[in-house]
This record gives sequence, C-alpha cells and structure tokens, in this order.
Amino acid sequence: MDSREPPSLRFASLLEEVWRLLADGQRLRQSPFHQAVLATSTARGPSARYVVLRQVDRERGMLGFHTDRRSDKWTEIERDPRVALCFHGHNVQVRVEGRAILHHDDAVADLAWKRTGLMSRRCYLADPAPGTVTPKPTSGLPAHLSKDRPNEAESAGGRVNFGVVIVPLQRIEWLHLAFEGHRRARLARTGAGPWRGEWLVP
Ligand SMILES: Cc1cc2nc3c(=O)[nH]c(=O)nc-3n(C[C@H](O)[C@H](O)[C@H](O)COP(=O)(O)O)c2cc1C
Repeated sequence: MDSREPPSLRFASLLEEVWRLLADGQRLRQSPFHQAVLATSTARGPSARYVVLRQVDRERGMLGFHTDRRSDKWTEIERDPRVALCFHGHNVQVRVEGRAILHHDDAVADLAWKRTGLMSRRCYLADPAPGTVTPKPTSGLPAHLSKDRPNEAESAGGRVNFGVVIVPLQRIEWLHLAFEGHRRARLARTGAGPWRGEWLVP
C-alpha cells in the first residue's frame, strides 16, 4: 500500500479502529455500538433482532452478549451456531460473523451473572418464557417488579434462564461512508490465525 495513504487505510490501523469502536460500544451506553443487530438462521429463513454488546475481547477476537436461554435465538444458535452482528455509527458500518458458543452452566456464565446489575437481572424473571403467546399485553414479570428492581435473593431466580453467547469472530467487514466516496474492507481469519485484509468496492 502507498505509504502516503492515511493510517486509517491500512489494515492494521483499520482493525484497531474497529476494536476501539467495539470496546467503546461495550463500555458506553450512549455509543451507537452499544447495541447490534444479531442475525441467526431459522427453519423459516433468517431472523434479526437487537442485542446489547456486553463483552469485547480484542486479544481473542471475541464479542459477547447476554440472553434468556428460553428465547428463540438461543434455540436457533443451538441448531446453527453461525451468526452475524451488524453495527452502525460515526459513519461506519461494522459487520461481523462467527460461530457462537453458548454458556449457561459454567464459569463464563457465572462471572457474567455476577457482573449483571439487579435491573438487568430482572429480564430473566419473566414467567412464562419470552416469546410465549399471551391473551393480553404483559411484561411477563411479577406485578411488584413493574416499579422495583428485584432484590439480590429474588434476582437469583433468573440465573437458571441466563445465558452468555460468545462469538469468536472469523470475518469483519468495515464500511466507511464519506462524501468523497465510501471505503470498504474485509478482514478474515481462520481459527485464531492472523487477520488478512482485502479492499472491496463499496
Ligand atoms: C436496543 C435493544 C437491545 C436489546 N438487547 C437485548 C439483549 O442484549 N439480549 C436479548 O436477549 N434481547 C435483547 N433485546 C430484545 C431482542 O431484540 C428480542 O426482541 C428478544 O430477545 C426476543 O428475540 P428472539 O425471540 O429472536 O430470541 C433488545 C432489544 C432492543 C430494542
């Protein structure tokens, strides 16, 4: 590559930028990278929904999010672990792909649960399960939790429903939108091998 090109147009810098955006997304609630659209495969075809970015491990090239093990997405990932996540913000779209790993009854899920606040734990107390058809609109939560967060003891009831989905990335696509012309690059790796980049016409 021409050494006069700006650093952001070198693959190594580009990877750094992507991981910085993702790390900010995990840390900062107001970051546009705090949530992503997650795509899974179903018997009907593709399914997409938002999830909150909860874990970013740049060293191992992994992202993670939390979900209810009773949700459709969990079952879909059990059946086909190939997933994609799509982020957009600061004139950049980041698309990532990998084979998800499900954690629910292990140290990874235990640690994530420990770090999950009471308000977030509340989501895992829905009864019946997320996605259940009901005769009227409902949160599925016990009535007193519509105003309050659960206490520690009550929140513990949600642990059995709590799952962590870790996605070791195998493919990252970066699209930068700009008036002078967009730029697009794909970075791919095999297993834990080095990332290799190529430019694409946007
Ligand atoms: C901004 C936003 C963030 C969300 N974050 C999560 C999340 O981190 N985990 C989750 O399971 N659902 C999350 N949801 C709800 C999902 O998008 C989805 O509606 C729900 O999990 C049911 O999906 P499923 O039936 O495909 O499993 C979020 C929704 C929005 C709008």
